[in-house]
Amino acid sequence: MSGTVELVGVTKRFGSHLAVDAISFGIGSGEFFSLLGPSGCGKSTTLRMLSGFEAPDEGTIRIAGQDMADVPPYRRPTNIVFQRWALFPHMSVEANVAFGLEAEGRPRAEIRSRVGDALALVGLSGFAARKPGQLSGGQMQRVALARALVKRPKVLLLDEPLSALDLKLRHQMQIELKRIQQEIGTTFVFVTHDQGEALAMSDKVAVMNAGRVEQIASPQELYDAPATRFVAGFIGHANLLPVTVEGAADGAANGLAMVRLGDLHFAAAVRETSIGDMPSGEAILALRFERVRIGAGPAAEAAGAAGAGVARATGVVRQMIFGGASVQYVVGLDAAPVEITAEQPHGAGAPVFAQGTPVTLSWEPADGRLFKA
Ligand SMILES: Nc1ncnc2c1ncn2[C@@H]1O[C@H](COP(=O)(O)OP(=O)(O)OP(=O)(O)O)[C@@H](O)[C@H]1O
Ligand SMILES: [Mg+2]
Repeated sequence: MSGTVELVGVTKRFGSHLAVDAISFGIGSGEFFSLLGPSGCGKSTTLRMLSGFEAPDEGTIRIAGQDMADVPPYRRPTNIVFQRWALFPHMSVEANVAFGLEAEGRPRAEIRSRVGDALALVGLSGFAARKPGQLSGGQMQRVALARALVKRPKVLLLDEPLSALDLKLRHQMQIELKRIQQEIGTTFVFVTHDQGEALAMSDKVAVMNAGRVEQIASPQELYDAPATRFVAGFIGHANLLPVTVEGAADGAANGLAMVRLGDLHFAAAVRETSIGDMPSGEAILALRFERVRIGAGPAAEAAGAAGAGVARATGVVRQMIFGGASVQYVVGLDAAPVEITAEQPHGAGAPVFAQGTPVTLSWEPADGRLFKA
């Protein structure tokens, strides 16, 4: 119970703008929980309400079982780490980390020992005497983290703490943060708009869009079973194709529907929970780039073959985007005025298809997921 967080119907308006729209969810003690979503979707506002710097217009926030309505920020069992670290430039690393404990009037010996522990935790034991100006970006970020952790919050709130770091350092710090979190068992609520970051570190992720929570799930569940079209498009890279649903595929018990895309007919997956209310009509097919296979030439099996087997479509490579580990091919289909992007691992004898090459794309029916248009 000590590090649990509960939000029930929490709403925040700025004037007429609904920044956070009646969100409800729980976070378990010791969980690494991320709020993920595009710019302006209400992530920081949610975090600020947890910290007490912003008050909800409606709803209830409980931390460690206690209603936070009348609890000011400094009395909450939380601490916050911001994107800009705001270290005191004229003070040493040690003094920066000690600041909060000194403000609490803790005994000198206790402060020294707790600051030493916090610096060891973030791997900065030898840096106590340095000034922030003598540190790298990643080291400054570690100081900011030590400064927050030294107060032993039950819940640590982190608002895009890694976004000022370059990509390599950012990946290192992701691994480091996860290690620290597991070591101390503190609940982390981590805000980011970077899906790779959220997937890499979190036990659970809440995907937010326009003030609402679209789905809360483990990284793998989000990736394998996105609940909404927004999540399907936001997590990973997906083609979002306009299709017409023609009805259930043979043996609808397998959760497939037949769809039409231009002159192509093929089967696609319907989420179990929505098969009942999937309309026959316009829908969106989400198809991940890396689930689309690409092969040379028009296949012997003609494009548009019906049935619940593998879906196939012929087309021409319009663009080839080399990404190092993988290559993306943007393919214009012959049978419909749309493009589908296929992503293939690079190397190990994988053929390369130049711009203008005729190709055949194929994918498993279960890899194409239908959502309401
Ligand atoms: N103090 C404020 N006054 C008025 N509007 C605000 C205020 N703070 C936030 N907003 C608005 O509320 C919405 C949500 O803002 P918030 O900062 O929570 O977004 P965010 O998800 O953290 O975005 P980002 O990824 O860009 O940091 C935005 O439209 C923002 O402009
Ligand atoms: Mg923000």
